[in-house]
Amino acid sequence: MAEVSLTNVKKQYDNGFVAVHDFNLEIKNEEFIVLVGPSGCGKSTTLRMIAGLEDITDGEIAIDGTVVNDMEPKDRDIAMVFQNYALYPHMSVYENIAFGLRLRKVPNKEIHQKVLEAAEILGITELLGRKPKQLSGGQRQRVAIGRAIVRIPKVFLMDEPLSNLDAKLRNQMRAEIILLRQKIRTTFVYVTHDQTEAMTLGDRIVIMKDGYVMQVGTPQELFNHPANLFVAGFIGTPQMNFFDAVLKKSGEGYKAAVGDYEVNVPKYICDELDKLEQVPENVQLGVRPENLIIDPLGEKGIRASIKVTEMMGSELHIHAEYWDGKPIILKVQIADLTDEEQNRLISKESVAFTFRERTINLFRNDDGRNLAVPGAVPVPKTEKFVPEEKSKKNKKDNKKK
Ligand SMILES: Nc1ncnc2c1ncn2[C@@H]1O[C@H](COP(=O)(O)OP(=O)(O)O)[C@@H](O)[C@H]1O
Ligand SMILES: [Mg+2]
Repeated sequence: MAEVSLTNVKKQYDNGFVAVHDFNLEIKNEEFIVLVGPSGCGKSTTLRMIAGLEDITDGEIAIDGTVVNDMEPKDRDIAMVFQNYALYPHMSVYENIAFGLRLRKVPNKEIHQKVLEAAEILGITELLGRKPKQLSGGQRQRVAIGRAIVRIPKVFLMDEPLSNLDAKLRNQMRAEIILLRQKIRTTFVYVTHDQTEAMTLGDRIVIMKDGYVMQVGTPQELFNHPANLFVAGFIGTPQMNFFDAVLKKSGEGYKAAVGDYEVNVPKYICDELDKLEQVPENVQLGVRPENLIIDPLGEKGIRASIKVTEMMGSELHIHAEYWDGKPIILKVQIADLTDEEQNRLISKESVAFTFRERTINLFRNDDGRNLAVPGAVPVPKTEKFVPEEKSKKNKKDNKKK
C-alpha cells in the first residue's frame, strides 16, 4: 500500500535523447494506474524510473512521501513483472515462486505459507511441482506474477505482462488481473500499448506520446472527452471520425457546419467556447463511428458511398466515402436493422448519416486541443532525433564549410 508521486520527472539517456519530459502524476494508495501509448513513447522508461532501474535526470519520485531518487531498487519495496518473464527452467514452480524469499533469507516455514498463498490466489496450486517447460504460456505468466506477489509489495509494477500471450489467453488473463487486484490491496502501475487493456484495467489512464503526457483521466473521461486529437484517435476502435467544420454563432449557442449540414453544438461546449478570447472558425469535429446515426436508405443527412463492410457479428462496420472521397467509418448494431436494410448495406448500396449531437467533440485545427477540455495539452510535433555525438560532428562539419 503506497502513494507514489512523480514531480517534473525527466529522463534523458546518455546519447542525449529525452525519453520522458516533465512527467507529473500523483498516484493514490491502492490505485490502478495504466500507462498507455504507442511503442517508444516512454512507458517502460517511466516504470523503470519508479522501480529504480533507471536514474532520473531531473525531478523527484516519492513513495509514501519519501523521496526515492537515490534509493536502491531493493529498498523501494516494489515488485515488477516484465513482458519477457524469465522463469528458472531447472526449478519447480514452487521453487521459482520461493526464489526471491530464499534470497532474502526468509524462514522456510514462512516461505512455504507464502508460496501456497500466492499459488492459491493465482489458481496454480496443482502446478507447484511442475517445471516451467511443462506449463502453457498463460500458466508460466501466472507463475511469473506469483513470484512478484509472494511478497505483497508497496507498489506492483507490470510492463506489458500479457503481450506475449495469444488473444484468447490475453482476455482471460486480463480478467484474472482484475481479480488479483481485488485480492491483493496494493498500488499498481501497469504499462501497455493496448487500449483495451488500458480501458478495462485502469482506475485512471495516463496516455503518452513522444515522452509527453497527453492526458490523465478515467477511462470514461478519455473516451468521452479526449483532450486532443492524438488521444481521440488512440482510444476507441474503430477510430473516431474527424470532419472539417466551420463554427458559427447561432442565437445563444453555436452551430458547426460540415459542408451545408449543420450540427448543434452541445451546451457544455458552447459554455467553454464563450470563455475563449477568440473562438476559432475552422475546427475538427470528432465523432465516434457508433455515434453517427445512419440512414440505411441513403437519404437523411450526408450521403456516402460504401466501400467495404465488415460483419462483426452483433455489429456492422461500414467503411464509406462522403463528398469526393473523404473516408469515414460507421458502426451500426445489427439488431437495429431490418433484414432488408442489412442486405442493402452489405450489398454496398449508398448510405447517409447524421450526428448524435451530444457526443461530438471539437478540436483546434492548429494544435489539436479539445476546445471544451480545460488545460488540454497540444499534440507534440514529432521531431527527428539526432544523437549528440553525431550532431556535434555535424556542427564541426558545418564550421569547416
Ligand atoms: N538506453 C537507452 N538509450 C537511448 N535511448 C533509449 C534507451 N532506452 C530507451 N530509449 C528510447 O527511449 C524511448 C522510450 O523508450 P521506452 O520507454 O522503452 O518506450 P515504450 O516502453 O513506451 O515503448 C524510445 O525511443 C527508445 O528508443
Ligand atoms: Mg516498453
